[in-house]
Amino acid sequence: MTYVIAQPCIDVKDKACLDECPVDCIYEGPRMLYIQPEECVDCGACEPVCPVEAIFYDADLPERFGAFGPANTEVFESVGSPGGASGAGPLGADHPVVAAAPVSA
Ligand code: F3S
Ligand code: F3S
Repeated sequence: MTYVIAQPCIDVKDKACLDECPVDCIYEGPRMLYIQPEECVDCGACEPVCPVEAIFYDADLPERFGAFGPANTEVFESVGSPGGASGAGPLGADHPVVAAAPVSA
């Protein structure tokens, strides 16, 4: 189990979470950010600072955001565990669930 970022982050990308993470494991994609599950140490510091409440402990993920648990894992399948978001730079693509999300007006 780990923390995950869910739908409310899409096209918002407030990034307040980035300043809180002690291990730099929150990676930016084109439309939202993702937590690398192998690098997250479950400190929970990011969760309360997100203004749109997009961050959840995996086990507490609301059912309507269920696809985002796997999304935060699967989006790293091509890059693995880069060992730090600031060094690795942004992800080249979003998870398909995120890429297919409607753009809100
Ligand atoms: Fe997204 Fe919230 Fe972080 S909107 S970038 S999860 S502070
Ligand atoms: Fe970082 Fe949040 Fe995990 S602050 S270590 S992504 S719980």
